[in-house]
Amino acid sequence: MKTSAASKIRLGVNIDHVVTLRELRGTPYPDPVQAAHLAERGGADNLTVHLREDRRHIQDADVRALLDAIRLPLNLEMSLADDIVAVARLVRPPMVCIVPEHRAERTTESGLAVRRERKRLDPVVESFHALGIRVSLFVDPVPEEIEAVALLRAHAVELHTGPFARAPDAEARQRCWEILARAAELADGLGLEVHAGHGLHYGNVEQAARLPHVRTFNIGHAIVCESVLTGMEHAVRRMKRLIDCAGVPG
Ligand code: PXP
Repeated sequence: MKTSAASKIRLGVNIDHVVTLRELRGTPYPDPVQAAHLAERGGADNLTVHLREDRRHIQDADVRALLDAIRLPLNLEMSLADDIVAVARLVRPPMVCIVPEHRAERTTESGLAVRRERKRLDPVVESFHALGIRVSLFVDPVPEEIEAVALLRAHAVELHTGPFARAPDAEARQRCWEILARAAELADGLGLEVHAGHGLHYGNVEQAARLPHVRTFNIGHAIVCESVLTGMEHAVRRMKRLIDCAGVPG
């Protein structure tokens, strides 16, 4: 396979939806720590989990277990809700990504309104700095928002790739790519590390990887979906073997 500048982009694997499967049934499996170890074996550079206010997938105990068990840096996605900020201050992940959160949304829908939220963000970001936690803010590729992230002295900005990923055709996708590229140039020029994510999948990641200055992609849903398919044959074979062996007398 061709290697290029793109291969220097780090892959943050978001395992929220492994835990969605567990929470759907209230079973003890699948175990996110096991998923994290497998992701590491596959070459993940970081691990990401989103501790949502409604705890619909990742639970506080999962965050603690992951921080205890994994070697990869954990990126905690989080809103500015007081109880979530309190958890982050307590468990001290190496990095957090602050995102907006709306209760009814299926997934994070838009970037953070950094300028509007400046008063709330300032003390939270400052307290994370004091604890040695690196801070990234998830924003739409809008120059004024990126400038506001730099003013907060955040370590990184994560550019929202959702509209790029959802673009209806190649032309629209290229327009989104150009907006992201200009945003990445601006962020890099302001001294921010550039991350990107949301909606990236096996069909669009190569184009995304040609964006300038991007150091990390955070990808979740597509990787978990691919795992379900690539693991199906093995999973069925293992179950069938157990049934068949149990049926053998003696
Ligand atoms: N980055 C951020 C800030 C997110 O909120 C999410 C979704 O949890 C992702 C990346 C990953 O998005 P996806 O699951 O679509 O790959």
